[in-house]
Amino acid sequence: MTTMSPPDLDRSVVPAVWARYTDLVIDRGEGSWLITTSGERYLDYSTGIGVTNTGHAHPRVVAAVQAQAAKLLHGQQNIVFHEAGLRLYDRLRGLLPAPAGPWQAFLSNSGAEAVEASIKLARAATGRPAIVAFRGGFHGRTGQAMALTTSRVSVRGRFEPLPGSVYHAPFPYCYRAPGGAHSPHACRCEWEQGLSDLFAQVVEPSRVAALIVEPVLGEGGYVVPPASFLPRLRQIADQHGILLIADEIQTGFGRTGRMFAVEHVGVVPDILVIAKGLASGLPLSGIVGRASLFTAWPAGAHGGTYGGNVVACAAANATLDVIASEGLVENARARGQQLLDGLRRVGAGRRSLGDVRGLGAMIGLEFVKRDGDRVPDPAMATAVLNAMLRQHVIAISAGTWGQMVRLVPPLVTTAEEVDFALGVVAEALEEAGA
Ligand SMILES: Cc1ncc(COP(=O)(O)O)c(C=O)c1O
Repeated sequence: MTTMSPPDLDRSVVPAVWARYTDLVIDRGEGSWLITTSGERYLDYSTGIGVTNTGHAHPRVVAAVQAQAAKLLHGQQNIVFHEAGLRLYDRLRGLLPAPAGPWQAFLSNSGAEAVEASIKLARAATGRPAIVAFRGGFHGRTGQAMALTTSRVSVRGRFEPLPGSVYHAPFPYCYRAPGGAHSPHACRCEWEQGLSDLFAQVVEPSRVAALIVEPVLGEGGYVVPPASFLPRLRQIADQHGILLIADEIQTGFGRTGRMFAVEHVGVVPDILVIAKGLASGLPLSGIVGRASLFTAWPAGAHGGTYGGNVVACAAANATLDVIASEGLVENARARGQQLLDGLRRVGAGRRSLGDVRGLGAMIGLEFVKRDGDRVPDPAMATAVLNAMLRQHVIAISAGTWGQMVRLVPPLVTTAEEVDFALGVVAEALEEAGA
């Protein structure tokens, strides 16, 4: 077998996409670990951007994929039913509380595609044109999803014109609140004033179909809002007949220590957007919404050739089984707490480390210049990431300025692996001079 080396790859790949973080050529994955073609082992605390929550190549997921692939690879969902899809569609209806339903689901391939579906459904169901998203949010890279996204200008800045009637309200980023850093427990962010100004100055709330929000900002910097944020948003949406869309593409399926992050504050969205952790790495996404909303879609109003692919559905069914039977939501909570506590300990007194925050197993370190008021320091974040990689821990960046190191462990990670990662972060902070 010929193995391509990174210099060969340099000539054949798009630099904006491939191997932005590492030049590792991977042979296989096992649980929390990636193994290179030369046999080196790396602890993968990126999980392919929050996807491989059950670990790499979980034996039950692999068995389900293999068995399904041997029977049927494609059963187009406009044309036939298939057993894996029927089972999954039925299970998805039970993801949100029954009394608030009944719920229905629609399956697609990527996160952005599911976001597009959520917006199409909200507009069709309400007959209203406008959408309000939140500053720092990331919703994907297709046209409509880019228009919603403001996590960083590189995602959207060169691609105007973007679809209109999309407005942005402030997200409560407590560490960056005007007048000084605060924790979510004593947040000074005036996000509600910002939203009500938007309604008074820019768009009438009666013209707004939906508010779309990430319960914890992902690409925008692992920003955990105050506990009052989502419940208040739910009230405001209800007051104006606006739908609430929760984009749980990154936060879903146990990542934050609950099956969905909205559960932390008891909020039920009208539409839940899911992807990433749903199928352990196979491309599958979807929306779960109130059944009454879906009546606004006549036949042909929405669809897609590959959506709800049968092999991806088999992977998703196995993933949901593993999450339940191996207690992965509870493990995310326990290991996430161990990691957060440990990072606060090893980061104590490091003047470049402005904030350590997270929810469950979704944890970020925010780096700032030593002098100045919370001036982002992406160079320091990169130095720490590189030092971690040299010691065989893979993490990735986040945040508008790339000033965050984010740790996204698989939900199967062990206490020993967390301790190993903490030791590596401690040495990386030292080596980078944080
Ligand atoms: C919250 C959120 N929404 C949407 C997306 C887009 O998903 P995809 O890259 O699968 O299109 C992402 C991807 O990172 C995400 O984190």
